[in-house]
Amino acid sequence: MGKIPQETIDRILDQLDIVEVVAEYIQLKKAGRNFKACCPFHNEKTPSFMVSPDKQIYHCFGCDAGGNVIGFVMKYENMGFPEAVETLAAKAGVELPRYDKRDEGESSLTARLYEINTIAAGYYQDNLGSGKGKGALEYLERRGLNADTLAQFRIGYATAEWEGLQKYCAARNIPAEILRKAGLSVQSEKGKGDYDRFRKRIIFPIFNERGNIVAFGARVMDDIGPKYINSPETVIYSKSSVLYGLNFSRRAMREKGHAFIVEGYMDVIIPFQNGITNIVAASGTALTPRQAAMLKKYADTAVMVFDSDQAGEAASLRGLDILIDNDVNVRVAALPPGEDPDSFVKKHGARGFEDIADKAKDLFDYKLDLLTQKFGGEKIRDKAAIAGEMLPTISRVKNAIVKSAYLKKLAERLGVNESALRDEMKKVKNDYSYRAVPETTDAPAPWNYVSSEIHLLGLVISDKDMFETMRTELGLHMFRDENIKKVMGVIEGIRVGDDTVSPGKVLSRLEGDERAKAAVIRAVAKADITEDGERVFRDCMACMRKENRKEELKTLTHMLKQAEKDRNDPEIRELLMKINRIYKEKTA
Ligand code: UTP
Ligand code: MN
Repeated sequence: MGKIPQETIDRILDQLDIVEVVAEYIQLKKAGRNFKACCPFHNEKTPSFMVSPDKQIYHCFGCDAGGNVIGFVMKYENMGFPEAVETLAAKAGVELPRYDKRDEGESSLTARLYEINTIAAGYYQDNLGSGKGKGALEYLERRGLNADTLAQFRIGYATAEWEGLQKYCAARNIPAEILRKAGLSVQSEKGKGDYDRFRKRIIFPIFNERGNIVAFGARVMDDIGPKYINSPETVIYSKSSVLYGLNFSRRAMREKGHAFIVEGYMDVIIPFQNGITNIVAASGTALTPRQAAMLKKYADTAVMVFDSDQAGEAASLRGLDILIDNDVNVRVAALPPGEDPDSFVKKHGARGFEDIADKAKDLFDYKLDLLTQKFGGEKIRDKAAIAGEMLPTISRVKNAIVKSAYLKKLAERLGVNESALRDEMKKVKNDYSYRAVPETTDAPAPWNYVSSEIHLLGLVISDKDMFETMRTELGLHMFRDENIKKVMGVIEGIRVGDDTVSPGKVLSRLEGDERAKAAVIRAVAKADITEDGERVFRDCMACMRKENRKEELKTLTHMLKQAEKDRNDPEIRELLMKINRIYKEKTA
C-alpha cells in the first residue's frame, strides 16, 4: 500500500477515542479527567500509565512510552504504521483509499456494509409503502409522523417473514455472508441457513455522522417481546460512538451553538419534524466520552432533556460529568411527569419545547437541587454528603472563573466556609490525578527558557485561543528548541487548515521523528499536572520575552562596542536607540 493521506489519518483519529481503543486491550480506571492502568509496556505494580481523552494520547510516567492511538496499537500489537492504520480504519469505519487492486476485497468491506445497509433500508421502506406494511404505516401515522419525515429518516417495516430480506438479497446476488457481517441476519444454530434478525418490527436506520447507515433499531408495535432490538456491533457500528440524529442535526447545532440531547429515536424524530433541528439521542445509554467529543465538534452547550422519571435522571447525571470533561456547558431541562420529548412536543409544539429549554437549569443548580432533595441538607453530615458529590463535578470545570463561582455558590447554599470547600476540593483532585508523577516535574518557578518552551507547547497544543495569543503576542520565531519549533510549525499548519488541533493529530504528522514526538509527550504530560494553566501561560511568555531581551541586549551591546571602535556615528545612534527601546519594554 502507498502512503496513506494525512486527511484519512485525521478522519480515523476524529472517529476514534483512544480511551475506547486502549480499553479493548487493557483495563482502564477513571482518574479525574484521565484513565489510568498498569503500564503494558513495562513491569509495574502501581499504575503510571495514563490515557487522556482530551488530548487523545497515552503516556507512561514510568517508562516514558507515549503516543497517539496509532502509536499505541503499533507498540502493543507490534505492527507497522500502515498495518496499525488499517486496523484502526476498520474500527473507525473509515475507508482507506485503494492503491492496490489486491487490497480491494479487504479495504472495501466498510463500503460494502454501508451498501448492504442502504439496500436493506430500501427493502424495509418498500415494505412500509406496500400492502404488507399497512398496519405499520397506520401505527406511525398514529404516532404523528408525516410522509416527509418517514422518507427523511428512512423509516421502514420488517415483515413477519423469517427470510424476507434473505430472499430479497439473494435475488440480487448479495452473498449471505455479507448480510451476516452487517448484523442483518442470524445464523441458525443447526446450520440450516440464516434468518432475518428483524421481523415484524418498525425499522429505524441508524446513521453515522456523515449519514451512512451503520445499524438499525427495530421497534415492536404490540407490546410483545423487547421494545427495541438493535443491530449488534459490527465493523462499521459501535453503539458508543453514535449519536442518533447527528447527521441531520449537526448543521443546526453548529449554527445555534447548542444541542438537545434526548433518549430515544422518537424523541429525536418528532421534535425534528416540528422544527427542533438541533437534537440528538444517545439511544438508551449514558453518554459516552466518544459521543461527548463528537457533540463538542458542533456545539458548546448541551441541553439534556429527559423525562422526570428516576432512570432518566440517573442516566443523564452520569452523562453530565462526561460532558464537562469535554468542556461542554451543560444545562438540564426536566419535562413534566409522564412526558417525554416526543409527547411534550406533540402537546406544546416547538415553542413549548424551546421554552422549557430556556428555563433549563444550569447543571450546577440542577445537581444541587437533586442532592438537596435526596439528603435534606440540614445536618452537617448531609452537607458533607452533598459537598462530596458536588466537588468532583465542580473540579472538572475547566474555566477557573466558573469554577470559583460554583464554589462560592455551593458554600452559600450549604452555609459553610468557602475555604473549607476549597480544601476539600484539593483532596478530590489529589485522589484522582497523577500520583505516579515524580514531584520534580512541576517546579513552577523560576521558569527558565527551556522549561517555558516545553510548558507553552503543552498548553497551546490543546487550546486554540492560547495558541493564537501566543502566536500574535510572542511569535513562533522565539522558540529555540528545534524540536519544539518544528512542532509549533505543525500546529500552525493544522490551524491554517482550520482544523481542530489535538496532541493526537500533531503526533500523527510527526511520524518517524522520534525526538519531536518525545517533545510533544513531555509537553503534554507537563501541562497535565499544571494547576493554573492561564497563569503558567503568562509566566512562560513573560520569561521567554525576558530571555530574548537579554539575548538581544547582549548582541546589541557587542555591536555597539564595535561601532564605537569604528567611530561609526550613525550606527552608534541607531544601536543606542534600539537598546533604549528594549530597556523601555523591560520596564513597561
Ligand atoms: P424508550 O423506552 O424511552 O423508548 O427508550 P422510546 O424511544 O421513547 O420509544 P417509544 O416512544 O416508546 O416508541 C429510549 C431508547 O432506549 C433504547 C432505544 O434507543 C430507545 O429509543 N432502547 C429502549 C433499546 O435499545 N431497547 C429497548 O428495549 C428499549
Ligand atoms: Mn417515547
